[in-house]
Amino acid sequence: MQLSIIAGARPNFMKIAPLIRPLKDVGFATKIIHSGQHYDQKMSQTFFDELNIPHPDLNLGVGSGSHIWQISEVMRRLETEFTENPPAAVVVVGDVNSTLAAALTAVKLGIPVAHVESGLRSFDRAMPEEINRIMTDAISDWLFTSEPSAQTNLEREGVPAERIHFVGNVMIDTLLSHRKQAQALHSSRELGCGDKDYVVLTLHRPSNVDDPERLESILKAVHDISEDFPVLFPIHPRTRGQLQKFGFAERHDLNGYRMVEPQGYHSMLSLMDGARFVLTDSGGMQEETTALGVPCLTLRENTERPSTIESGSNQLVGWRTDDILAAVGRIKSSPDRSSQIPEKWDGKTSTRIAEILHRDLA
Ligand code: UD1
Repeated sequence: MQLSIIAGARPNFMKIAPLIRPLKDVGFATKIIHSGQHYDQKMSQTFFDELNIPHPDLNLGVGSGSHIWQISEVMRRLETEFTENPPAAVVVVGDVNSTLAAALTAVKLGIPVAHVESGLRSFDRAMPEEINRIMTDAISDWLFTSEPSAQTNLEREGVPAERIHFVGNVMIDTLLSHRKQAQALHSSRELGCGDKDYVVLTLHRPSNVDDPERLESILKAVHDISEDFPVLFPIHPRTRGQLQKFGFAERHDLNGYRMVEPQGYHSMLSLMDGARFVLTDSGGMQEETTALGVPCLTLRENTERPSTIESGSNQLVGWRTDDILAAVGRIKSSPDRSSQIPEKWDGKTSTRIAEILHRDLA
């Protein structure tokens, strides 16, 4: 019995990686389909290599475009594939455009859908991912959740309880099995920052990097922070373009960071693990820092991952310079890095998912 597993963008790859072996162990054949939403070596192939993900059986080669174009193009190309080679079920992960496109194509063709990382809600519909989450969950047959808030959100939306399965966080399966290898890298040394007291910054969300006022305000805070700590900034291609477009790359007062290329999985994990704190607008890094026990200041006004805040590692600081610096001040004055690991973030999530799919499909 064959399952098609869909991935398209960088944050999907560490979520599909741990699923493949347990699915095979319970007897499924797996077909990996890459939509091509991300295509640069450093945004895609690097993760397949480092995480030992088999080469995709099919790459739809969609690439960049408007959201509507991207979603419809993935659907069009997947229709052909699912019609010619219908799987027993389709597995989608996360909340990117490829996730929604694959779920919608499958359901229209009568193929059941399993959504991994289901039920997360920021309650901010201006966020493209929020629409993808709501839509994908509404049409999925198995909703695999990573934290208790997801169950509450899905129940509120009327999802029958028997479809919801609290299994834990699949991305933390990957983190736990690769942490030792990552620690051995000492990537901060390689990037010229020594071993401690540096900060990691990532920024890519349109609400931050497409708005010059917000981006400027964040970069002013980064400039101040860089007087105390070196700030390593692995740059997303979208952000690189925006810095140039707004003329910020040349502004001395906005230039506190040390820009580096997008990092591979192990290097990024190594950087986060050794950082004094992380500044980010990424969803995944809020969870990874929680698992690592590293303080995270999230450059957003909401999060779909409230367990990271309840755990004590994550704080929402928004985009205003003063708010960011006030939170940094609090971190500087308290050396305590303790945080609680959320329930079922234990490295066994993929096995739980495989067992449930086997029980229901085999
Ligand atoms: C996408 C996801 C977002 C996720 C992020 C992680 C959606 C709606 N957004 O946002 O949830 O957090 O990935 O990176 O699915 N580009 C390249 N090379 C690439 C890919 C993109 O240069 O390999 C550039 C292109 O100019 C493109 C832009 O980055 O237009 C944005 O890429 P896109 O996939 O549309 O969205 P992301 O911002 O990466």
